[in-house]
Amino acid sequence: MCGIVGAVARENIVPVLVEGLRRLEYRGYDSCGVAVNSKRGLERMRSIERVSHLDSSLRRARLESTSGIAHTRWATHGAPEIRNAHPMFSCDALAVVHNGIIENYESLREELSDAGYAFVSQTDTEVIAHLIHSLYDGDLFAAVREAVQRLRGAYAIAVVHEDAPHIIVGAREGSPLIIGAGAEGNFLASDALALTDQAEHFLFLDEGDVCELTRDTIRIVARNGEPVDRQPQQVRIANSAVELGSYQHYMQKEIFEQPGVVAATTNGVEAFVPELFGDAAAATFDGIESVQILACGTSYYAGLVAKYWLESIAKIKTDVEIASEYRYREPMTSSRTLVVTISQSGETADTLAALKYTQSLGQTRTLTVCNVASSAMVQLCGTRFLTQAGQEVGVASTKAFTAQLVALFMLAVTLGRQRGHVSALHESRYLQQLNGLPQMLTSTLALEPQIVAWSARLATRENALFLGRGLQYPIALEGALKLKEISYIHAEAYPAGELKHGPLALVTETMPVIAIVPDDDMQEKMKSNIQEVRARGGELFVLADKDTQIESEEGIHVIRLPAHYGPLSPVLYTVPLQLLAYHTACARGADIDKPRNLAKSVTVE
Ligand code: G6P
Repeated sequence: MCGIVGAVARENIVPVLVEGLRRLEYRGYDSCGVAVNSKRGLERMRSIERVSHLDSSLRRARLESTSGIAHTRWATHGAPEIRNAHPMFSCDALAVVHNGIIENYESLREELSDAGYAFVSQTDTEVIAHLIHSLYDGDLFAAVREAVQRLRGAYAIAVVHEDAPHIIVGAREGSPLIIGAGAEGNFLASDALALTDQAEHFLFLDEGDVCELTRDTIRIVARNGEPVDRQPQQVRIANSAVELGSYQHYMQKEIFEQPGVVAATTNGVEAFVPELFGDAAAATFDGIESVQILACGTSYYAGLVAKYWLESIAKIKTDVEIASEYRYREPMTSSRTLVVTISQSGETADTLAALKYTQSLGQTRTLTVCNVASSAMVQLCGTRFLTQAGQEVGVASTKAFTAQLVALFMLAVTLGRQRGHVSALHESRYLQQLNGLPQMLTSTLALEPQIVAWSARLATRENALFLGRGLQYPIALEGALKLKEISYIHAEAYPAGELKHGPLALVTETMPVIAIVPDDDMQEKMKSNIQEVRARGGELFVLADKDTQIESEEGIHVIRLPAHYGPLSPVLYTVPLQLLAYHTACARGADIDKPRNLAKSVTVE
């Protein structure tokens, strides 16, 4: 989703802005732009192509400056056109970049139009530019502070004015914004990743903060007008996270990182104790009678798998709900419910809002499973589990999902232990399985060449069905999501028992059906469902275990995973489905790491 970079330094900052934008490309965007205070005054360049295109234009124009702001935009208000790309200008004197959505922009737009401001874009951001301009009387910091008090909704903004070429001003409410302090200057960004080459320390702005940066100074004022110090934090982002190495795409690299990510997330766990989820967890978990999981996208599917684990291992009733639905209804709450939010980024607007909503309803037992320590969700939850997936660059989530599964499995066994449903013997078996998972993932990744062969067949189709049962049904959902996200093949997933209640009508010779058939209790049922497909001419691609009793034959292609892996088998079956989506998208020449219309971190509703 949208990304912000700002810089004020001793040397020319244009390359810093461009490199920052490049690092934010993974979030997803459809236009980009830069505005700087140059010797000629405020100058701007925008593009509806890639950051590399913007870079070429900037080089050709030899744009140089020691202060400026830049943006990648993911369209919300107004199409991805140059006129809607940020930075937005007001009267050619002031420029603004903005992440988020201003809810009262229509009334502000009317008011500012009446005051004589001309609007050239369809964006909500242009009202911010004109509003600050209308309040400016020589002090940009004061004008921004006054302006943000009139904004409703979510924003992170960075502002420059031609009168003050040595200053950039930022503000945030509901969208992340951080300051990077470096030896050569000071920087602003919506994501620390943008600044890892420039800054040694990062200051995370709080809700309502407004800041002013010069190359040597940082001033922050809280919502109440009081000056505040925000403690500098170290953010460790290995450069390897942003380097592709020998891989063709980040998605492929991240799929292959999964054995390491799982090992880092389990971190040599020796016992399933509440403390794995933080010091407050024992009290949070004590006496709970149900679990409510809230999440979006791939994280929601992790939640669906967790429901099976929590109910079968910990014997605790579990509901899973899409966060964007939960936040707009009147749920029945109970003080004995543990609310679990799952989010890779910890910033997804709907999940964050659902968390705040449930807290406002009096739910005090909240746990977040998240990959970003500094995120808003982690700050809001006393009890948390930090997955160790590392920076995920590919928009389609892969390693973050497996890390979430591992965390949720640990939660299920921990609650099972605490509630007396998991014996010491069972605990040690679960530990053994968890610790053996990286090795099993490595063996599963070795199936890649067989998957490549499948993807060549799938790449020519426009529809696909995914089938699974029980624990594997959410994995079928995730497999279908991966395929549609990056290859643009229409894919649906069904619990295989539902086949005859509708989707079977779609099955003909042109419909590929991907079925997950482990050697488990549902094997016989799945085999019957497969026959129903085959009888209608559908081509079957079956993922099975070594011991699943099913053979390749005309119209049925079977790939075997090394062995059945008990309750953790969904983690293994995820891998071939990720690889299938990836190689199918490759075969179709899709832009894998930046699928059209999608964003990595969805910070707007
Ligand atoms: C976006 C991403 C998905 C992700 C979802 C939820 O749609 O493209 O990959 O699953 O957001 O994100 P979260 O950060 O909350 O896990």
